Amino acid sequence: MGMTYTNLGSTGLLVSRLCFGTMTFGKSQWKLGGVDQKLADEMVNTVIDNGINFFDTADVYSAGQSEEILGKALGSKRQNVVIATKVRGRVGIGHNDAGLSRRHIFDAIDKSLKRLGTDYVDLYQVHGWDAFTPLEETMNALGDIVTAGKVRYIGFSNYAAWQAALSLGISERLSIARFQTAQMHYSLLCRDIEHEIVPLCLNKGIGILPWSPLSGGFLSGKYKKDSDPAAGTRIGDRGMWFPPFDKELGFKVVDALHSIGSQIKATPSQISLAWLFKKPGVTSIIIGARNMDQLQDNLKSMNVKLDEPSFNKLEELTAPKPLYPGWMISFQGQDRLPK
Ligand SMILES: NC(=O)c1ccc[n+]([C@@H]2O[C@H](COP(=O)([O-])OP(=O)(O)OC[C@H]3O[C@@H](n4cnc5c(N)ncnc54)[C@H](OP(=O)(O)O)[C@@H]3O)[C@@H](O)[C@H]2O)c1
Repeated sequence: MGMTYTNLGSTGLLVSRLCFGTMTFGKSQWKLGGVDQKLADEMVNTVIDNGINFFDTADVYSAGQSEEILGKALGSKRQNVVIATKVRGRVGIGHNDAGLSRRHIFDAIDKSLKRLGTDYVDLYQVHGWDAFTPLEETMNALGDIVTAGKVRYIGFSNYAAWQAALSLGISERLSIARFQTAQMHYSLLCRDIEHEIVPLCLNKGIGILPWSPLSGGFLSGKYKKDSDPAAGTRIGDRGMWFPPFDKELGFKVVDALHSIGSQIKATPSQISLAWLFKKPGVTSIIIGARNMDQLQDNLKSMNVKLDEPSFNKLEELTAPKPLYPGWMISFQGQDRLPK
């Protein structure tokens, strides 16, 4: 087995099922590892050698350094890969240096293109909801940069399902570019999107791109119940606050990952990623790494075969609590066909 490829949402663009996330590139106050240009070059070459053709960054990662470092690391290989970046976060102190206004989107895309050293971005994603801008304004601005050739496809991130559904309706009504992807937090320790976002994405042919698939590194199994997290790890350096999860369940899941791993000869990280590969609607998992060992570990997830009993064990252990109206919709659905 090696890398496999699939369509990005309902587009004709083929992307690898692992996407390399570059949030650790550059030094920032977020304390994510500070991957420098030399290490980034090695990482980018390694993932390309392993078949990855899909890279994710954002204008806010290390205040633009992530885009710059990625652009340099890719160099002329840029033409063979798919680059995703994002807009919405605060990038300056001005009133309009954040959000999804027409003004900021036009400004932000030009700056991202410059930092990345490219003429176009393949996937431009709104990084989150902007309560200050009318949705029509955002969708029209995104449609216009697609028409201008600066962006090929658009996607959303961190939207509620109703926000995404309203956006899709506007795009359809105005016959402009629509969201093709949903970049959302999704891991064994956070399956919240299964309530509303996953059904929407399946219904509309939108590709799900899970972020923080290892819950910030916790699912690697390197944190122990009875000892403080080591310095030089994300949780050791920043505390356990993002992404949030139930710590007690977390350690139970890590135990289960170790026990499955001893049977199928795979690491907890690889099994966590292999579980996500099997989830409906998932297009590409966005992996992250601070060093080469982690990267190599995560890349091998492509070769892990998670058998049905192990998959079901993880499904049951981490099943999301039913929410209303979801449980009522399932209940009422039972009598829709005559017996
Ligand atoms: N749209 C959004 O709002 C959003 C939010 C977050 C991330 N993202 C995207 O998703 C990508 C991945 O997110 P993430 O970095 O949070 O993913 P993650 O896989 O949950 O965490 C990655 C971190 O976990 C640790 N780690 C990873 N693999 C490991 C392994 N095999 N063994 C031990 N430790 C390991 C490393 O941190 P330490 O060594 O420091 O412990 C690494 O930096 C980002 O690069 C970004 O592109 C998007």
